[in-house]
Amino acid sequence: MKRYNVAVVGATGAVGTEMLRVLQERRFPVARIRLLASAHSAGRRVPFNGTTRRVEELDKRAFDGMDLALFSAGASRSLEFAPEAVKRGAVVVDNSSAFRLTRGVPLIVPEVNPHALRCHKGIIANPNCSTIIMLVALKPLHDAAKIRRLIVATYQSVSGAGARAMAQLYQETQQILRQFKVRSSKFEVNAKLKTGHAKRVRVLPTQIAFNVIPQVDAFLPNRYTKEEMKMVNETRKILEEPALPVSATCARVPVFIAHSEAIWIEMQHPLSPDQARKRLANAPGVRLIDDPARRQYPLPFDAAGRDEVLVGRIRRDETVAHGLALWVSGDNLRKGAATNAVQIAELLIKRDK
Ligand SMILES: NC(=O)c1ccc[n+]([C@@H]2O[C@H](COP(=O)([O-])OP(=O)(O)OC[C@H]3O[C@@H](n4cnc5c(N)ncnc54)[C@H](OP(=O)(O)O)[C@@H]3O)[C@@H](O)[C@H]2O)c1
Repeated sequence: MKRYNVAVVGATGAVGTEMLRVLQERRFPVARIRLLASAHSAGRRVPFNGTTRRVEELDKRAFDGMDLALFSAGASRSLEFAPEAVKRGAVVVDNSSAFRLTRGVPLIVPEVNPHALRCHKGIIANPNCSTIIMLVALKPLHDAAKIRRLIVATYQSVSGAGARAMAQLYQETQQILRQFKVRSSKFEVNAKLKTGHAKRVRVLPTQIAFNVIPQVDAFLPNRYTKEEMKMVNETRKILEEPALPVSATCARVPVFIAHSEAIWIEMQHPLSPDQARKRLANAPGVRLIDDPARRQYPLPFDAAGRDEVLVGRIRRDETVAHGLALWVSGDNLRKGAATNAVQIAELLIKRDK
C-alpha cells in the first residue's frame, strides 16, 4: 500500500491534537509525519503511532518532500504557508477560514459534496465546524424536499475557540466553585470572579463559566458576527445554492466539546417529520436519536468523541407551509474539523489509486 508523507500544521492545538488522534484511529497510511507549530512549542515531544515525535517550528522548508499538509494554525499561517506547501509539492487541506470562499478552492464535506473535490488546484478548504455539523444533518432533507429558507441558532462549545478557551472555562469554573457559598447571590459570585487574584486566561470576550455569550468571532458592519456569516456563505457554496436565504445566531456556551444547533428549515416540497426521520436514519455520518418521551435526544455530552452528527427533536415548524425544526449536536474538533479533514485526505488517496 502506498504511504504518504504528512505535515500537521498546528499540531499542538485543540484541532491538531485531534488530527493526530484521528490519523491513528483511521490508520491513515502515513510514511513520515512532520509536526509543526510555533517557536513556543518547538522541541516538545508528542505521541504518535506508538512513539513520540518532535514538534518543529513552522517553516517553508518543512514542506519539502511532503505529500499532504493538514493546516490548523489560524488563517494568517494558512495564507502565508499553504501556497508555499503547494509549491513544494504537497496537497493542502486547510481548516482555517483563509480560502473557504476563494473561487476555485473546493469547500468539502465528504457526506455532502465530494464531487467538488475533482477541481482542486492544490488547496482544499475544510468548512467552519458549525457549518459542517449542520450540513451533514440537512443534506438528506435538502435532497428530499429542497430547502428554501434556513434559520439556525448555535450553542457552541469553548473548544471551538481553541485550547486556551478551554483553559478559560476550566479556570473560571474552578475559581467560582472555590469561592461559592450556597447563599451567595449571582451578583456576589460574579463580582468575586471579577476581583479574583489568580492570573486568568481570557480568550473569550467575557466570563463563560455559568454564562452564555451571544458572540462567536468579531462583529461585522451588518451586526452579524463573522461566524454567523461563515455559516451563511459556506452553506450557500457547499449546497451550490448561491441565493439561499440563511440567518444564523451563534452563541458560546459553557460546554467543553461539541456544538449544538437549533435549526428551522422551510422546504419547497412537503416532508413530514416521519419522512425526515426515515431519511436521516440511513444518512451517512448521521445518528438519529429522536425519542423525546424517553428523553432520547442529541446531547453535546454524547456527541463529544464521536464522528457522527446526532440529530433529533424533529418536528413540524407550524409557522410555515413546509417547515421542520430539529436539534443537532456534533463534535466540533472531530467531524467539525479533524475527522472531516482526514476524510478529505482519504478521498484524495482513493483518487490517487
Ligand atoms: N477548534 C475548533 O473547533 C475548530 C474547528 C474548525 C476549524 N478550526 C480552525 O483550526 C485552526 C486551529 O484552531 P484550534 O482551535 O486548534 O486553535 P488552538 O488550540 O489555539 O491551536 C493553534 C495551533 O496553531 C499553532 N500556531 C499558533 N501560532 C502559530 C505560528 N505563528 N506559527 C506556527 N504555529 C502557530 C499553535 O502552536 P503553539 O501551541 O506552539 O502556540 C497551535 O498548534 C483555526 O484556524 C481555527 O479557526 C478550529
